[in-house]
Amino acid sequence: MVEDAQVMLNTAIERIGQARGLDAVAKSLTAKVKAFTRPTVIKNALSGSWLGHQLHPVLTDLPIGAFSAATALDLTGGTEASAAARRLVGLGILASAPTAMAGASDWSETSGADKRVGLVHGLANAAATVMQTASWIVRRRGHRGVGIALSLVALGLTMGSAALGGYLSYVKGIGVNRTAFQRTVRDWRDVAADTDIVEGRLNRVEVDDVPVLLVRQNGRLRAISAVCSHAGGPLDEGTLDARGCVTCPWHGSQFVLDDGSVERGPASVPQPRWDVLVDGGRVLVRSA
Ligand code: FES
Repeated sequence: MVEDAQVMLNTAIERIGQARGLDAVAKSLTAKVKAFTRPTVIKNALSGSWLGHQLHPVLTDLPIGAFSAATALDLTGGTEASAAARRLVGLGILASAPTAMAGASDWSETSGADKRVGLVHGLANAAATVMQTASWIVRRRGHRGVGIALSLVALGLTMGSAALGGYLSYVKGIGVNRTAFQRTVRDWRDVAADTDIVEGRLNRVEVDDVPVLLVRQNGRLRAISAVCSHAGGPLDEGTLDARGCVTCPWHGSQFVLDDGSVERGPASVPQPRWDVLVDGGRVLVRSA
């Protein structure tokens, strides 16, 4: 029975992912979101680059919690709880704005089926927020029953949309740190001849199947993991700038070679750093 429900849910979501008719809207919205998030300060704020992981999942608790609590008061609190319920609906509406912005920023970096499912997720949440706003307005005008009904339907829509968000995160791995399961290498490993690491070139070496980016810049050797924490892009195919930052070729995240920190999102998780040592003309690395 439970398995049947899971199969039906995943089949429905996969159908959304195949709906190419959504692509034109997705393309247009993506262009708008990318234009808005072009300044690094906005991209980093919305990506959670300052937080160390994605911001959107943190923020979603606020509107969902407020709307759920409002409905709980509606159903169990009676008329004396009506003012508190209305305030919770208002809080949820206010919290929806930054939550949607962070989600839109993450969504703009997706593609294909993930982008289509994400679009429906966002549109469903937008529709739910419009309904909650209508609920708040009619509650203010004294039509509590209508407001409760609107909030109930909106919350149902939000829950359906949350299933899409959960699918993207936990089934498709959108937003998961791609270096999370890389092994730690405690002892020094010989990876290259010192003379092979040319100034300014991005080199990919492997240590126990972990790809490592090895760079000599201004004569100094530094290393970070070569798989981009954002979505797995190959940093060794990116670009190096004079500041000592590597730009990922897939979505433009920038990482500081010195410590792996995120200079620009969409990445929110720093790259693992590797210690580098030159001994007897050989380059050795180990997890920092
Ligand atoms: S994979 Fe997205 S920025 Fe690197």
